[in-house]
Amino acid sequence: MSIRAEHLTHIYGQGTAFEQYALKDVNFEIPDGQFVGLIGHTGSGKSTLIQHLNGLLRASSGTIYYNGEDIYAQGYNMKQLRTKVGLVFQYPEHQLFEVDVFSDVCFGPKNMGLPKDEIAARAREALKLVGLKEKYYKQSPFELSGGQKRRVAIAGVLAMRPEVLILDEPTAGLDPRGRDEILDLVNSLQDNRGMTIILVSHSMEDVAKYADRLMVMSGGEKVFDDTPKNVFRHYKELEAIGLSAPQVTYIVQRLRENGVDISEDLTTVAEAKDAILKLLRDKGRLQAAGKPDPGAGGNAGASGNAGAGKSAGAGKNAGAGAKKASGRKGAR
Ligand SMILES: Nc1ncnc2c1ncn2[C@@H]1O[C@H](COP(=O)(O)OP(=O)(O)OP(=O)(O)O)[C@@H](O)[C@H]1O
Ligand SMILES: [Mg+2]
Repeated sequence: MSIRAEHLTHIYGQGTAFEQYALKDVNFEIPDGQFVGLIGHTGSGKSTLIQHLNGLLRASSGTIYYNGEDIYAQGYNMKQLRTKVGLVFQYPEHQLFEVDVFSDVCFGPKNMGLPKDEIAARAREALKLVGLKEKYYKQSPFELSGGQKRRVAIAGVLAMRPEVLILDEPTAGLDPRGRDEILDLVNSLQDNRGMTIILVSHSMEDVAKYADRLMVMSGGEKVFDDTPKNVFRHYKELEAIGLSAPQVTYIVQRLRENGVDISEDLTTVAEAKDAILKLLRDKGRLQAAGKPDPGAGGNAGASGNAGAGKSAGAGKNAGAGAKKASGRKGAR
């Protein structure tokens, strides 16, 4: 089962003087359970794209297939699609509107026509999942902090028990701790519930850490679609479209330019830390071993060995330390 976009094109204000191509011939297929990062400069078409996936926007041309069915086919149940493909908006204020948090989260399941008990049970479950304390349930969602508002918005979507969760910049404006909490939550939904995740983000660090796959948009077109590591190899092209690779990529690059034998595939801070520590440890060990005879030859040999011995080991470490170690998908 999957979401497939075929030749997706969207033109805002078609036929008017304000006509604007927001998507141009975008194609992809996202299988179940994948964590996709969607990245691109402001105005590149990210929000427009994801709003097509649950039918909120209709393509000017092209088609979307959800689990093999054309969502534009006559009689297709668009209302049900919106419960299966849950979309958390870029601005939580656009999504929250009820008098209190609990009613807000009940809205989705209520709209699905579920029995009252089931609605309340789902709302409770979703609020627990996002870690919002009960004392907030009766508060107006507008009185909450930015991070809490986002939790409520996410809970509102989770209460429908969607198969796919799309989040449009869910960490914008949050402090690092709030950001990590939201992303860890999203990650656990993929790991523990097998949900498909599409995360729109400006942060290369976030997508490098969490996503299996990265789609990069520029000017309404999909310009890269690959694993984060493969995409970040094109950091020069990313810069040309107003993006950059994760900061740590640049550090690794500089180390390599200065003759340090370190893998260029390190894209998260954790991976780089492991590799650099291993380098230092190997070097220290070799130097320690060379201590009884600290002659010039011994030293030269030690540093040479440190370089040669490291690369394979560090690479391995990086792989194991990386979040997307292969067995992870077994959770499904
Ligand atoms: N309702 C609209 N009417 C007309 N043009 C629009 C509308 N919404 C978006 N656009 C235009 O379509 C293009 C894509 O916008 P979109 O909001 O999808 O980009 P984005 O990648 O989500 O940007 P951001 O990172 O700022 O959220 C932009 O040029 C934008 O100005
Ligand atoms: Mg947007």
